[in-house]
Amino acid sequence: MPSSSLAETVLVTGASSGFGRLTALALAQRGYRVFAGVRDPAGRNVPAVAALIEAARGLAGELRVVALDVTDEGSCERAVAQVLADGGALDVLINNAGVAAAGLVETFTPADAQRLFDVNVFGVLRMLRAALPAMRARRRGLVVYVSSTDGREVMPFLGLYDASKAALESLAEATSYELAPLGIDSVIVQPGTFPTTSILANLVPAGDPARAEGYGEVAALPAGLFAGLDAMVRSGQAPDPARVAEAIVAVVARPPGQRPRHVVVDPSGADRTARANTLADAIQSELLAQYGLSQLRPAP
Ligand SMILES: NC(=O)c1ccc[n+]([C@@H]2O[C@H](COP(=O)([O-])OP(=O)(O)OC[C@H]3O[C@@H](n4cnc5c(N)ncnc54)[C@H](OP(=O)(O)O)[C@@H]3O)[C@@H](O)[C@H]2O)c1
Repeated sequence: MPSSSLAETVLVTGASSGFGRLTALALAQRGYRVFAGVRDPAGRNVPAVAALIEAARGLAGELRVVALDVTDEGSCERAVAQVLADGGALDVLINNAGVAAAGLVETFTPADAQRLFDVNVFGVLRMLRAALPAMRARRRGLVVYVSSTDGREVMPFLGLYDASKAALESLAEATSYELAPLGIDSVIVQPGTFPTTSILANLVPAGDPARAEGYGEVAALPAGLFAGLDAMVRSGQAPDPARVAEAIVAVVARPPGQRPRHVVVDPSGADRTARANTLADAIQSELLAQYGLSQLRPAP
């Protein structure tokens, strides 16, 4: 059974693959009642759903698949309504669904950017608006955001993705201040690069690649960077994405009000994101104090 009496029913977005799938299974293994949000579960994700259900067989908790496309407000509302009806409550929301994009910023059209932000940022807002009324009514809950070390760092050729994660970080942090006094915890998880998930297979393509022609030698750099990642995967040295799932399970298991603001899971061992978090934390404390809002600051 869950070690915390609070966290029993969990909804994970983007549970068909990668971190979301591993997190849903890891939580079910620890005895939680998990609703695994899967986009198009009766269509192209039929094999993923079958594999998920098979993998969850015999685990200590429960795992049920719920149809959930975070770009569709009605789908978000229906998924939460199903969790509340079948699970009795929603204790934990894990905003994990995400897509990436790689390449020169100028090669992406505004429509490409809207597609990416629609999942990584607006999708999270839709989920918050669907889930928070029930959490606020009970004055308890936990919202986990799967951001990235790229939410703090800025890599050339990942500009669109990094912008979406930076936007997610701001949205999540502002929301954390607003929800803490209502008894709702917020935790931002920042994974480094884990190339064994499907994130690279699901990249939003650049709609206008011809724009790269004017960049000369710079245009060749992204291919080199991503070839390096590919080589890491093929060498068998890729880090295990289960580390991220375990970090999320540990956050969920922590007692309410005692959870960290950020959790960095960076297999590279670099501490840049942790340092940026520490610095940003100090700046935020100062900012809130200046405006007489220190009481909104959740416990570290
Ligand atoms: N892998 C990394 O190195 C890394 C590093 C830092 C952060 N992250 C973040 O971790 C999260 C999970 O990524 P991952 O690496 O596990 O990649 P992944 O294997 O591609 O998983 C992404 C998940 O999001 C789902 N998704 C995409 N669009 C959706 C939508 N409109 N509605 C609902 N679900 C949707 C996908 O579902 P479908 O199967 O239907 O496409 C899939 O289940 C993302 O937020 C990503 O930005 C990844």
